Amino acid sequence: MPAIRILPDLLISQIAAGEVVDRPASALKELLENSLDAGSTDIAVQLAEGGIKQIRIADNGGGIEKDQLALALARHATSKIGSLEDLERVASLGFRGEALASIAAIAHLDLSSRVAANAHAWKIESSGGTAGVAEPAAVAAGTTIEVRDLYFNTPARRKFLRSAQTEFAHSEETFRRAALSRPDVRFTLAHNGRAQWLLAAGSAEERIHAVLGDDFREAAIAVAAEAGGFRLHGLVAQPAYSRAARDAQYFFVNGRFVRDKMLAHAVREAYHDVLHHDRHPAYVLFLELDPALVDANVHPTKIEVRFRDSRGMHQFVFHALEKSLSTTRAGADSPMSPAAPAMPFSQSSYFRQPGIDFGTAQRYAPQAGTVPGATEPGGFYGTLFGSRESMNTAPVLQAPMPHADEEPHPLGFALAQLAGIYILAQNEKGLIVVDMHAAHERIVYEHLKAALDSDRIPTQKLLIPSTMTASALEVATVEENADTLAKLGFEIAALGPTAIAVRSVPMTLAQADAAQLARDVLAEVTEFGGSRVLAERQNEMLATMACHAAVRANRQLTIQEMNALLREMEATERSGQCNHGRPTWFQVTIGELDRMFMRGK
Ligand SMILES: Nc1ncnc2c1ncn2[C@@H]1O[C@H](COP(=O)(O)OP(=O)(O)OP(=O)(O)O)[C@@H](O)[C@H]1O
Ligand SMILES: [Mg+2]
Repeated sequence: MPAIRILPDLLISQIAAGEVVDRPASALKELLENSLDAGSTDIAVQLAEGGIKQIRIADNGGGIEKDQLALALARHATSKIGSLEDLERVASLGFRGEALASIAAIAHLDLSSRVAANAHAWKIESSGGTAGVAEPAAVAAGTTIEVRDLYFNTPARRKFLRSAQTEFAHSEETFRRAALSRPDVRFTLAHNGRAQWLLAAGSAEERIHAVLGDDFREAAIAVAAEAGGFRLHGLVAQPAYSRAARDAQYFFVNGRFVRDKMLAHAVREAYHDVLHHDRHPAYVLFLELDPALVDANVHPTKIEVRFRDSRGMHQFVFHALEKSLSTTRAGADSPMSPAAPAMPFSQSSYFRQPGIDFGTAQRYAPQAGTVPGATEPGGFYGTLFGSRESMNTAPVLQAPMPHADEEPHPLGFALAQLAGIYILAQNEKGLIVVDMHAAHERIVYEHLKAALDSDRIPTQKLLIPSTMTASALEVATVEENADTLAKLGFEIAALGPTAIAVRSVPMTLAQADAAQLARDVLAEVTEFGGSRVLAERQNEMLATMACHAAVRANRQLTIQEMNALLREMEATERSGQCNHGRPTWFQVTIGELDRMFMRGK
């Protein structure tokens, strides 16, 4: 084996660049964040060939002193934090001190900057990680950075770049996110010499309107909620929103655009329970909280965050949105009370983490001879799972009736349904309460996972393809990721520059809203790329998909259908928790009931 060596600095930066700047849009994101961190109120971006040939960004922020210019390009050099305590409560967008070094390692970069108090600006030029000396320059107060020929010295990377048009679509989305995050800042964008965006500073609503257009504004409802140090505000679209070409799902945490599974789930749940099914979750939401309670240092791109109290945050966002959405209901039938708790038992002293060992439990084996209700056309499971006969990855759902000589089932047998949300069942130990939505979501998730693990998710052709308008980015994603989408059970085709057709969906999800499902999947694939979605983000992806299948609250189930769900839970690994870590069921023993009623005292 060759000897172990410390890698040269340039190579280290090039490796880091693989993560931080995987395409021009990521370089632009880093530059925009630096300008915002510098306190700029005016940011001008010019791109050439989608950003591949050139990214030029000029801001009017605080600027960089002459003797710091070279440091700004050095690895692990930052003005934003100096200690672990700083890191733990960091409020700036950047803090790793590696973005400029990474970009400089794989491009030609000119950095000019003038601190307002100084007589003139200074400029350094760098090429492939080697910087020259600072020279006087003529620019206004602030910083101008020009990046040319991204990946000129890493040809393998360069090969992964798509057409200038696709790269521009990604860069424009990055620009849009930055613009939405800071309405108080003026932004402009030009591409190949032509002005694309001119966004004057204004209120959040004005900015959202300018970026997302009239349809969104007309359909939007304001959200404003505050509790326990958390603040959520922004706009969400009502169900009637017939969306224009672009998908609008923007969540900002302390000014940072994030894609967070838990937050996305809270939004979806709020829509699920309150709005009818042609709803469209479109939103621009700003969440603010003490920076010490959220960790952005999860991935170099900082697009994922971790909340110290993830469950509390889910509850807060869910309730805030559910309340806002419920005010828009017009003549809807039997609305769920906005105050209906999502986890009413979680605080209860009877709360139990599931303790039954499914491994030793008797597995339900499909039997010949059906039970009425379980296979009725249009019945619960028909709706949930589509045509089961042709499924080869999931067990056929037919509820067995209890027999005296059978080994008891750990989750017992259904007694009744409560509040359209819970299944009450009886087992040897006492009462079982199941959150049917959470349990069903878990089951679907495990089915999808098993199918994907053993190659690909079985697909089902839609009788009528679902066509929809799409952004340039969505069309590009469809064209570039056909294999990934096929593995996930989708066949989606581009119909033109602004339209796509969903032809097949995963069989398990055949009853879900195909357009909505496809959109969520495309958003994830666009954001992270096909290979990451199938590798490290597989679980997030499948959880998102499972969410679309899960049974809604307020659906009446027959006893047989409830029993079938219980048997399915017993046969599904890890079904004791939903995909978001909440329990799917718990037990109240006869002993506990006795104590409640002070029996035997
Ligand atoms: N537009 C700008 N205006 C003023 N200072 C800047 C600007 N861009 C970069 N800097 C300075 O250069 C330093 C290095 O920037 P760089 O983006 O590499 O790291 P960072 O922003 O500190 O952390 P991260 O790697 O997380 O982005 C910053 O800490 C900041 O002091
Ligand atoms: Mg930075």
